[in-house]
Amino acid sequence: MRIVHTVADLRQHLRPFRHPAVVPTMGNLHAGHLALVQAAKPLGDVTVATIFVNRLQFGPNEDFDTYPRTLQADCAQLEAAGCDLLFAPSEAELYPQPQAFTVQPDPVLAGMLEGQHRPGFFQGVCTVVLKLLACTQARYALFGKKDYQQLLIIRHMVRQFALPVDIIGQNTCRDADGLAMSSRNGYLSPQQRKQAALLWHTLNTCAQAVRAGGTHFAELENQALQTLRDAGWMPDYVAIRRQSDLQAPQIGVPLVVLGAARLGSTRLIDNLEI
Ligand code: PAF
Repeated sequence: MRIVHTVADLRQHLRPFRHPAVVPTMGNLHAGHLALVQAAKPLGDVTVATIFVNRLQFGPNEDFDTYPRTLQADCAQLEAAGCDLLFAPSEAELYPQPQAFTVQPDPVLAGMLEGQHRPGFFQGVCTVVLKLLACTQARYALFGKKDYQQLLIIRHMVRQFALPVDIIGQNTCRDADGLAMSSRNGYLSPQQRKQAALLWHTLNTCAQAVRAGGTHFAELENQALQTLRDAGWMPDYVAIRRQSDLQAPQIGVPLVVLGAARLGSTRLIDNLEI
């Protein structure tokens, strides 16, 4: 696997290829990221991963400084997964100016759920993703469905800017107890790790109630919030929404239940398509 740190080197190594399949990440890779790499391989004529901890998507009180940076271990995993090229730019390389132009996502879609609890998050995500797609000339880009709203917003951005890239969403990879894999799971103490699958189980209970014909959505959401609170979590939201645009649920259209909650100081998110 080639490792490049500058846009110029990236472009040079990509010159022979026409259909890069790209997996954007912030590093500290786990099996979920590697599944994205595996899914990317048959799509394009070259498989590219990017590692960049994007300051623009972190709030002032969030974990930008402590976000795990594990480049060496990440490289070994990507190499073993058969990735062809890794683009790991420095901040000065990706945001040399600094980045004065940013992407302002649709405030309706980006202002709810994650966007409501993490102001500016999706602006940061869209800005870096647009830039990474431009740098890599991605023909395919793969993202995990754990970040459901992120995936929807990126699809929206790509449609609205008519970018020549197919956005591929991949199912969430889970540990044996159901916990969605995430770089932030590493923040959990052993005791918290034992409780961490409760978010997934709670969303599951909610989804099952809807599948069984439950239509009192607000009540189901409140029950889920209470389950989490009773177990000592601090939930930000549990929300049953339409899959297509995350608007209020309607009977007869595909739905998704999304949740975000803090266990101690670790904020976990998850979702489940119904
Ligand atoms: O999902 C992530 O890891 C990040 O939000 C992304 C898409 C790599 C942008 O920094």
